[in-house]
Amino acid sequence: MAGSKSVYYCQNCGTRSATWLGRCNVCGQWNTFVEEVIQRSPSKKRENVVVDSQPQLLKDITGDTSVRISSGIGELDRVLGGGIVQGSIILLGGDPGIGKSTLMLQLALNIKNTKVLYVSGEESATQIKLRASRMQLDSDNCYIVNETSLQAIFSHIDSIKPNILIIDSIQTLQTDTLDSSAGSISQIRETASELQRYAKQTATTIFLIGHITKDGVLAGPKVLEHIVDVVLQFEGDNKFVYRLIRATKNRFGSVSEIGIFEMMQNGLREVDNPSEILISHRDEDISGVAVATTIEGNRSLLIEVQALVASAIYGNPQRSATGFDFRRLSMLLAVLDKKCGKKFSSHDVFLNIAGGIKTDDTAVDLSIVAALLSSAVDIPISSKDCFAGELSLSGEVRPVSRIDTRISEAMKLGYKRIFISASSKVQTHYDHIEVKKISKVSELIKYLFS
Ligand code: TYD
Ligand code: MG
Repeated sequence: MAGSKSVYYCQNCGTRSATWLGRCNVCGQWNTFVEEVIQRSPSKKRENVVVDSQPQLLKDITGDTSVRISSGIGELDRVLGGGIVQGSIILLGGDPGIGKSTLMLQLALNIKNTKVLYVSGEESATQIKLRASRMQLDSDNCYIVNETSLQAIFSHIDSIKPNILIIDSIQTLQTDTLDSSAGSISQIRETASELQRYAKQTATTIFLIGHITKDGVLAGPKVLEHIVDVVLQFEGDNKFVYRLIRATKNRFGSVSEIGIFEMMQNGLREVDNPSEILISHRDEDISGVAVATTIEGNRSLLIEVQALVASAIYGNPQRSATGFDFRRLSMLLAVLDKKCGKKFSSHDVFLNIAGGIKTDDTAVDLSIVAALLSSAVDIPISSKDCFAGELSLSGEVRPVSRIDTRISEAMKLGYKRIFISASSKVQTHYDHIEVKKISKVSELIKYLFS
């Protein structure tokens, strides 16, 4: 075809190559190169270029990016840094079935006095209507269209002039200017950048739903993440009802906030007090269970750690960690072996964070160690005890950030004793909770099991 040429793109990292390669020499993935045909417009001479942009002095530029509108969903506003910034482009990624379409429809129907166009390339208008009735929501300002062609979408935009545009999903979009199929790297890049230009020119807010590959990264090249202003990640286990939303990039706010939802029969419900639901309220004490205080974003969260230590039947003991870094579990086991003389080498060890939550807060170390020891000796930890401490390789309990926030959250939820590092600097005096300071992991055994 005249004016077009064929190039190969790595579908994993977006590297471009003139020839097909078996292995990408940038990201190292095998068999990821796919041929794409790109149209080349005839090159323009410099004097023929039409310029429609105009440089402005910084001090003359008006427009306040801090004008935010509420999405009608408090937890989403929180993650966005206090509401939606007009003209921003937001990418929402997550596993299939996690609730991306549900969240976006809920936003479309909850948001006040704002015209929304919901473009779905995946579901028909009737399916979306069914979902809306299931959520018992309706709106006079929400338009639905099933469309995948970007040019057609722009013509709908021209007639409706929405303030918010939702694209479900970016992988289904196709622009006429490229021959490659929908979902390919060049289509994603091209459609996303055209939408981004439109968002900036017209101050329309655009939400893009993005798929996730089996490795858990956003499908499509990294460039997609560069194009957008905010990248939101919707996480959680399909089997669990709780969903976490966090920002991994935010040009207008911090990336430390998280929002928590519960998937109900009638859509997603915001969870204001997550600790209460993440901890099973047990009447009797069970061995192998410990409660950790974690900080997720700016909020403190109490989570339940469950451990099972059992004699290994086969030669090779099994190790498994759900919601927690596997290598860190191995490290904690090694510390217990070396510093407390607790041998796990002939035991299977299973570790689970309840509620499908994933954590990388090192402050849960102490609770994990406590749960492991409790399961190993089969002595329960009191359901009024909780933990906040990191463990060093030498077996010392190290202080963790924002200890006062953690202690007050534990106290609020009725815990009577919290184990923390001896070198933690606690600012406040607490009346209703005993703050137990320990410096070595071996002391824990003394307090808990003797
Ligand atoms: P969906 O938004 O379609 O996920 P995604 O767009 O991320 O692929 O949500 C799918 C799941 O949510 C589906 O398995 C059904 C469940 N669900 C509920 O439990 N309650 C509801 O009210 C709705 C709308 C969905
Ligand atoms: Mg969907």
